[in-house]
Formats: sequence, structure tokens, C-alpha cells
Amino acid sequence: MRRACSLAAETLVMISEHIRPGVSTEELNTLVHDFTLKNNAIPGPLNYRGFPKSVCTSVNAVVCHGIPGEQILKDGDIINVDVTPIFPRRRGYHGDTSATFYVGTPSLKARHVVEVARQSLEVGIAVVRPGATLGDIGHAIQTFAEGKGCSVVRDYTGHGIGRRFHTEPSVPHYGVPGTGMSLRPGMTFTIEPMVNLGGFEIDHLDDGWTVLTRDRSLSAQFEHTIVVTQTSCDVRTRRSAPLKNCEDVPWAKLGPLTSFIPSPKPESAPSPASV
Ligand code: MF3
Ligand code: CO
Ligand code: CO
Repeated sequence: MRRACSLAAETLVMISEHIRPGVSTEELNTLVHDFTLKNNAIPGPLNYRGFPKSVCTSVNAVVCHGIPGEQILKDGDIINVDVTPIFPRRRGYHGDTSATFYVGTPSLKARHVVEVARQSLEVGIAVVRPGATLGDIGHAIQTFAEGKGCSVVRDYTGHGIGRRFHTEPSVPHYGVPGTGMSLRPGMTFTIEPMVNLGGFEIDHLDDGWTVLTRDRSLSAQFEHTIVVTQTSCDVRTRRSAPLKNCEDVPWAKLGPLTSFIPSPKPESAPSPASV
């Protein structure tokens, strides 16, 4: 599990170097696919419930599950890249993480929704400790994002994760304090708030996957895989370096999760039998 998560994190660091105007989402898919195989892992999205590609690329009003293809990134776009390697290849674990990147120079609206989404994830993770509830996490995220004039998508949530991609519990990014499952040490799940500049309602494209905002307002998302510890939580998809076009921009409102671990590469990370 640790190595799947650190590989997921390093895949985002790798892809962050390739975000620029003129690059196609298909090229990003190829980079993620090849990097995953090179690291003795399998891209979880590929053929997952029929998903046709190895990564999700969600541009502008696309909330999540965007399918890589011909689309060329242009100056001012925002793009979420969501990676989920399975390591090892046989009977492996999933590591799930995503970030929203700036393509060139963004509008003030784009900066707002991306920075609110970034901080929403931080705010959610800050709540995690034994005894806190799923409702506590959702409430913290919803209160923060709505307080910044944005909305939180209801129809997609974080999720338990392990040998299966999506397991119980479902982790809503909205909710009521003190409600829902209580957290216990060892629980492993994602937090991945999707934050919209307009309303929370969504539409689906007829490709069966692409989710977009009903009002076509911008949407941004950040995701980490975490495990509950005795006192708080461990962010398993924490990165070894800051993300280009994301954490290095002057307007980024960075939080504790940006403090990156300076050393081991995924290949040299320790590999306990589980978790
Ligand atoms: N990585 C997404 C998540 O965070 C799920 C993508 S499913 C896919 O849960 F099939 F679209 F890849
Ligand atoms: Co996820
Ligand atoms: Co994901």
C-alpha cells in the first residue's frame, strides 16, 4: 500500500513537468501509462468498469473522469490529473491521488476555485483522527468551500481503498458533524473534494464517463489517500517534491501537505506486507 501510494505521488510530480499550452491530454495519458509500467505497476483506471485510458484528465468545467484524447491544453485552462497505480502488478494495492494544474496564466476565477479546492483537501485532512466521524470531515470541507463562495459536488465522494479501487466507506465532502462512521486507526481512504465556482449540480456526457458542472462553471479537485493513525492521519500520497504549475505558482495558498518528504524514491521505499 505504501509503495502504491508513493508511486502515485511520484507520478503526479512527473506529470507536473509536462503541463503546458500545446500539450494534448492523450500525451499526458501516454506519459502516465509508460511511467506506471516502468515502475512495475498497472494503471488502475485502464479498463476499470470500461474506462478506456490510464489516467483521468478533467479540464475547466469537467468535474472528474475526463477521458484523455485529442484536446490540446491552452493558456488559461485548468486541468485535474488523477492517477491510480496498482502495485505490485499481481494482487496489488491502489494508490489514488490527484491535483489541479494551471496551464499558463490563469484568470482570477480559475485561481480562486483551484486554491479553494486545494485548501478544502487540507481542511478535511486536518479533521482526521480516531473518534472523528465522516460527517466531521464533510462538514469541515463544505463549510470552508461554501464560505469562499464555491460549492461542493455531492454525487461523487472519497472512498475506502486497498486491493480494490473503491470500497466502503464512501467519504462525502459535505455533511453534518458527529454523523456517519467513526474513524479508527488503520482505516485507509481517500479525500478528494470536487469544488465548483457555481452550483454543485453536475451533468454527464454521453461518453458514459465525463462529469461536468451543469452551469459549466469551473471545477477543481485535489485528492490524497490517507490512513488513520493513533493520533491523526498519515498522508500516504504525500509527494517527494512540489508540483510544477501548481505548488510553485506565486498565488498558491499552500498548506501543511505541501511540506514534502526530501528523500526516498518509490523503488527504495520499505515494503511491509500490508498497509
Ligand atoms: N481516480 C478516481 C477516484 O478518485 C476514479 C477514476 S475511475 C476511472 O476515485 F475509471 F475513471 F478511472
Ligand atoms: Co479516489
Ligand atoms: Co482519484
